[in-house]
Amino acid sequence: MSGVVAAAASLAVRGHLVHCRDDPFRVGPSALETFEDGVMVVVDGRIAAIGPYSEMASQAASCASLIHRPGMMILPGFVDAHVHAVQTDVIASPGRSLLDWLERFTFPAEARFAEQSVCEDVAAFFLRELLRNGTTTASIFASVHPGSCDAVLSGAYALGMRVNCGKVLMDRHVPETVRDTPDLAQRQSVELIDRWHGKGRLRYTVTPRFAPTSSPEQMRVAGELLSMRDDLHLQSHLAENRDEVQWMRELYPDARSYLDVYDRFGLLGPRTTYAHCIWLDSVDRRRMAESGAGIAFCPTSNLFLGSGLFDLQACAEANIAIGLGSDVGGGTSFSMLRTMSEAYKVAQLQGYTADPGLCLYLGTLGAAKALGLDSFIGNFAIGKEADFIVCNPGATPLLARRMALTDSASEQL
Ligand code: GUN
Ligand code: ZN
Repeated sequence: MSGVVAAAASLAVRGHLVHCRDDPFRVGPSALETFEDGVMVVVDGRIAAIGPYSEMASQAASCASLIHRPGMMILPGFVDAHVHAVQTDVIASPGRSLLDWLERFTFPAEARFAEQSVCEDVAAFFLRELLRNGTTTASIFASVHPGSCDAVLSGAYALGMRVNCGKVLMDRHVPETVRDTPDLAQRQSVELIDRWHGKGRLRYTVTPRFAPTSSPEQMRVAGELLSMRDDLHLQSHLAENRDEVQWMRELYPDARSYLDVYDRFGLLGPRTTYAHCIWLDSVDRRRMAESGAGIAFCPTSNLFLGSGLFDLQACAEANIAIGLGSDVGGGTSFSMLRTMSEAYKVAQLQGYTADPGLCLYLGTLGAAKALGLDSFIGNFAIGKEADFIVCNPGATPLLARRMALTDSASEQL
């Protein structure tokens, strides 16, 4: 599998095109559009036309170049709505639960990013690993150190990836080695925004780690940063684990809920994305939908850390934009295909069967919507960036054997 961002003046891409033209939660299985022998015409890096090759052969022939991959599935580049670059090296570290895992493995691992050479080395490996798995867009947590954010963004810029990233803000309840202050958070974030936001395909993302580790003063700073420009993003964690929710009750006894704390500081809206959202109630879900905030559903992490089962059906019915996140290193795989598979199982355990098109949606258009990036990427709509991957559906002997018995794109997925 290889990530491809087309930039040629005009290019025709021929193969088995598969994408979600719409939201399957709203329109059902017809959201999945496929062209078994299809062609996508790309002009100046954007999708200009898509359809069956039989109807577009002459248009394809007039393009400056042609990529023909018979038998290969051409999908929108995968979108990872939540991942920690700086946890790459602690993937698969077994904590008793979220808070124990953060203290024992995560904070010590993130402290290493005070060294710029560590930032550069890990960012280079991390970005390659995303691409190796077909992920061309990601919303990324750096560490508290601005250099870790610089390393991710400069690497992503060189590779032409669409990346949202931010330095983590955390000024309490964490070791001194990974702590900032409201002032430092403000200054360092503004410098990073000025340096990177809007450069190429990069977006800066204000990143308070989660409400327990930011003081009320720092939460206010996060709100001020977010409102500095109208196209900045924000990412955080919300209602992942029962002990964390209880801790929030003690820290903010007046708040109606954990979500309400973010709301009070002006941190809910379009382009704000919250990971996990397992322990929400129906009032929270309504408020998220109304505000336009998105959810990053991170099944491999939720299962590995034993956090709980995300209620995909309830959140979808509440009309919240939902996408998948790998949440590496709490999550156990960079692969969005594996993440889709675990999402399927989490839904299945709750009596909800997510069809294959819906799983693809969660890792492409759904994730793009949850990040507020769906006007640029997520499917093959005309005018969007030609951000696609080429997958070999028969990549292993077992896959090849199973594919020989399939008769639809949905079954192949
Ligand atoms: N909550 C606060 N920080 C983290 C983190 O790094 N990973 C996960 N899964 N949850 C968090
Ligand atoms: Zn996370």
